[in-house]
Amino acid sequence: MKKIVYVGMSADLIHPGHLNIIKKAASLGEVTIGLLTDKAIASYKRVPFMTYDQRFEVITNVKGVDKVIPQETLDYTENLLNIKPDFVVHGDDWKKGIQAKTRQKIIEILSDWGGKLVEVPYTEGISSTALNKALKEIGTTPDIRRRTLKRLISSKSLIRFLDIHNALSGLIIENISIKNDDNTFKEFDGMWASSLTDSTAKGMPDIEAVDVSARAISLNEVLSVTTKPIIYDADTGGQIEHFKFTVKTLERLGVSAAIIEDKTGLKKNSLFGNEVNQTQDTIENFCNKIIAGKSVQATEDFMIIARIESLILEKGIDDAIERAKAYLEAGCDGIMIHSRKKDPNEIFEFCTIYNKFQNRKPLVVVPSSFNSVTEEEFISYGVDIVIYANHLLRSAYPAMVNTAKSILNHGRTLECEDSLLSIKEILELIPGTK
Ligand code: SPV
Ligand code: MG
Repeated sequence: MKKIVYVGMSADLIHPGHLNIIKKAASLGEVTIGLLTDKAIASYKRVPFMTYDQRFEVITNVKGVDKVIPQETLDYTENLLNIKPDFVVHGDDWKKGIQAKTRQKIIEILSDWGGKLVEVPYTEGISSTALNKALKEIGTTPDIRRRTLKRLISSKSLIRFLDIHNALSGLIIENISIKNDDNTFKEFDGMWASSLTDSTAKGMPDIEAVDVSARAISLNEVLSVTTKPIIYDADTGGQIEHFKFTVKTLERLGVSAAIIEDKTGLKKNSLFGNEVNQTQDTIENFCNKIIAGKSVQATEDFMIIARIESLILEKGIDDAIERAKAYLEAGCDGIMIHSRKKDPNEIFEFCTIYNKFQNRKPLVVVPSSFNSVTEEEFISYGVDIVIYANHLLRSAYPAMVNTAKSILNHGRTLECEDSLLSIKEILELIPGTK
């Protein structure tokens, strides 16, 4: 009888290294590929370029592969116990880092039935990491970028977005990553095109005075140097007739979602609450806006998320819930619930009721005020997207003001140099400057 051989892989960017592993596996027996699902891959790195179905199609047709089954987690245990392979084949480049523990566990499990781990020497000169880097340098297309948001939502328990107001802020979100204790990496999943920070960076008030054409200019600058998905703060969406054009423009650019807030008239920033005159739209009119927006989008990927301002305007939870039901019914792709209270209880109360909805869609929060809540807590309340809406610009401004004051105070720049990027660093910051 032929031996059973198991190979776990993502098979996203297939290269000769993968083929070497499959060749070795095929020489040992009948090969089953455990194809990592998007969720399994997203648990330790970015969602793959190709969808599960596309990766399945490719790997099924690779010579030497007999069968392909999903592997739902990074941990091989479930599949190994199911198929009890004689061999597991893997590249030998996983003895350190995040996969070291997985490797050890595989060896132990296999030993229960005398199975063996076979390691294939790392193929020099090519790796998925190098291919990933090269792809990032080439950039992305509007289609690929747009659909990434839905893929992220379905593969991660919570995704995090941070404000952009120019291309440099976009690059920070694109590139900054930190290492967790378990050697996995943590990054921002995408960018929030905030009306507040975009307007403020242009020296304009956040009252929809910066129109969509002007906002599209900053957006274009960000789009040309980044690949991560963008959620656009579309304010009230304006008149229904105008909103239709905004949806088309955003969708064409590769933006993944527009969030519209259910206010009407001259828009003021929500964080003022009832300190300024703000009026909420009627449920009927706002539903019509959602319906109009959904009717003009050209792809399945673009999302229109309805932002409920009932808590901001102190209209209470019942009003917020009634609106959430109506907006979902009208066809929105998600709900954002906002609050300006430091205490998160009203947000939690909303989440708890909302999660019981049969037709529940992704839930978004913007914790500018209720900033003590951790991402783990949001996950426990079923939140899908957390948006840190203004923190990059709020950190940049005081730093710039301090530098300006220091120069005035000292009549030279020596005293502020230590808090600045060095000349060398700024020259090296953007590749190609030299
Ligand atoms: C923005 O970032 O512009 C927002 C979020 O709309 S908030 O400022 O909290 O209203
Ligand atoms: Mg805004």
